[in-house]
Amino acid sequence: MNRSADQLAAAVAETAALIRAGWAERPRAAIILGTGLGSLAEHIAIEAEWNYRDLPHFARSTADGHRGRLLAGRLADVPILAMDGRFHAYEGYSFLQITFPIRVFAELGVSFLILSNASGGLNPSLRSGDMLLIDDQINLMGAGGWSAIGGLPVRPEGTGKSAHPTATVSRSFYDPWLMSLAERIASDQDIPLRRGIYIAMLGPNYETRAEYHWLRTLGDVVGMSTVPEVLAAGELGLPVIAFSMVTNVFRSDDVQQTTSGEVIHAALNAEPNLRQLVTRLLMEWTSNSPLVPRPSPHS
Ligand code: HPA
Repeated sequence: MNRSADQLAAAVAETAALIRAGWAERPRAAIILGTGLGSLAEHIAIEAEWNYRDLPHFARSTADGHRGRLLAGRLADVPILAMDGRFHAYEGYSFLQITFPIRVFAELGVSFLILSNASGGLNPSLRSGDMLLIDDQINLMGAGGWSAIGGLPVRPEGTGKSAHPTATVSRSFYDPWLMSLAERIASDQDIPLRRGIYIAMLGPNYETRAEYHWLRTLGDVVGMSTVPEVLAAGELGLPVIAFSMVTNVFRSDDVQQTTSGEVIHAALNAEPNLRQLVTRLLMEWTSNSPLVPRPSPHS
């Protein structure tokens, strides 16, 4: 992966150009489908698709439950891009590699980002199958910003930006307007949805008993993704909304083994609620959005 800001910009432009050559639409939103949630892709009217291996500078999906293809098409008649499978730090990818697609989506002019993931429930009132609207996050991935898992610079060289912290305590990375729209749709459609804090661990192991006891004092759910993409969206000024599907719940009296098979199975069962919410969100967004459309490089 490239080091300088110029090289990074050139890599983003190259990938964006390839996508544009295969699909001339301007995407309104980009969706990242988390573990076990790829079945949402079956409801997209696909107009073009690429295996990640055919997209320059994209990493490969190696995790269970992640197919590794980029889809372009329509959901609720809205032109969108969807990642059927994402990249994780536990696969050995740097934050810069994980978030490369977000830079490409911004370059293609998407107005906002919809993220989804599977998570373990820490809050004892959660049940497997519950959907959480993430309203804040704790980054315990052991890497911050664009810092070096693989020797990458904190800031791409030549950006003229210093490496000072960029977030402040008052900052929310999650878009308040999108969150209240999602909550209104959920209540209209009788889809249970509550807000909560997502904690990101590096993984790849599910949490130990000791980690679980500690983490439940900090937040509502735990997973191994999303935080890098949210940080990148924040840097790029891209509004973001994120849904977490609770696939397993920790009980202090009965800490059972979590398996990836169980997580994928539970996510699959929870997918219809996510799909319904995301579909309506796109429909209503097109008619109501106060979000400023981003300039499209090709319009
Ligand atoms: N821990 C971390 N990530 C997860 C879990 C979990 O229990 N369930 C689904 N993703």
